[in-house]
Amino acid sequence: MNHFEAREGELWCEQVPLAALAEAVGTPLYVYSTATLERHYRVFREALEAFPRLGAPLIAYAVKANSNLSVLATLGRLGAGADTVSEGEIRRALAAGIPPARIVYSGVGKTAGELIFALEAGVAQINIESEPELRLLAELAQARGARPDLVIRVNPDVEAGGHAKISTGARGNKFGVSLAEAERLYALAARDPRLNPVGVACHIGSQITDLAPLARAFSLMRQLVERLRARGLVVQRLDLGGGLGVPYFNQPDPPPPRDFAAMADEVVGGLDIDLAFEPGRAIAANAGVLVSRVIHVHERPEGRRFLVLDAAMNDLIRPAMYDAYHDIRPIRPRPGPMGPYDVVGPVCETGDTFTRDRVLPPLASGDLVAFMSAGAYGAVMASEYNSRPLVPEVLVKGDAWAVVRPRPSYEEMLGRDSVAPWLSRSAGAR
Ligand code: LLP
Repeated sequence: MNHFEAREGELWCEQVPLAALAEAVGTPLYVYSTATLERHYRVFREALEAFPRLGAPLIAYAVKANSNLSVLATLGRLGAGADTVSEGEIRRALAAGIPPARIVYSGVGKTAGELIFALEAGVAQINIESEPELRLLAELAQARGARPDLVIRVNPDVEAGGHAKISTGARGNKFGVSLAEAERLYALAARDPRLNPVGVACHIGSQITDLAPLARAFSLMRQLVERLRARGLVVQRLDLGGGLGVPYFNQPDPPPPRDFAAMADEVVGGLDIDLAFEPGRAIAANAGVLVSRVIHVHERPEGRRFLVLDAAMNDLIRPAMYDAYHDIRPIRPRPGPMGPYDVVGPVCETGDTFTRDRVLPPLASGDLVAFMSAGAYGAVMASEYNSRPLVPEVLVKGDAWAVVRPRPSYEEMLGRDSVAPWLSRSAGAR
């Protein structure tokens, strides 16, 4: 459920008409709903809390899905932690008021500088993804007299996820170490006075709509915990990652959080361990839309009809990158027959096609449309390709709204470049 609803013939976000935001801020723009963010977080938390054997898991929201400071602060106030993958994300989580004790730090390639930053910030847990990284952390910790809590990220070799580019848990990809290697590294870390291994982690993919692969992975993780404990090693944390899918309209409906929690209870319940989950999309996707204006409708004599929007692949790259489907809804639908459109942006690439042959109500120049389910992996993946200023973001709460990232002016955009001294006008031509 989300708080983007049609009322009085147009689409609203909570108590604010999207058309009013488009007028005030200009298009394209992202709009997020506080009530939806909060609801999704609470539904996830309450689903887990319904199973006492799961304890009180840490819900470390995956910052990568939507890292706007206002989004993070909204979730942080409800008690969410943060799953981060870079110094920038740790800084964002801290700036949004999420305490270090609720921040976990994962990622395949953490630099020494980033690890030092995480150590000094005192994050709750560093998810180690390889032996070289474990050795680097030990050296850095020793130099600072820290003894960091770490978990070993396991690649359990279970394939899952909505698209090959977002599947992370199979053997051939770059994430984590094998189950056997995890056992070896855990024992190695436990013998090292500079390190404090506290648990193990996995994350097998994103946009997962079937619980079976998650159950398989969780079960392998449980067995790993039991094997480590049988060797006399202390294992007190199990981080089970994110990945739960959302309904994008063209895919099988994902299981509700309640079923996900029931599965987790069945597989890892009663393990007497502190659990962590890292949901991103499940919290943010349906809490955001991308609003865009129709520049014009271009009817080709041979029959194709292009809906040319002022949003492009640089604002929402998911269709170009993953063939992702986003529902497109006119904000003030006109009466009339439905018909097929190829929906495109102005960027100079054929890939800047959001969808082909999408059947929509009649649309004309100046009309507004909303790309639904764009709150996760939308604005965070935006760029200024084709020198299009970075898309702005607005957060709505009830009848209030705020621009939480303004659109940069052209002066600001150009001002980030500088002209090499030998090219400046005063240097003259040679
Ligand atoms: N934890 C780790 C270690 C991750 O790598 C990810 C996502 C998550 C948690 C959150 O997964 P979620 O609950 O959101 O599925 N840009 C792609 C998705 C990439 C996901 C990367 N990792 C997309 O637009 O579909």
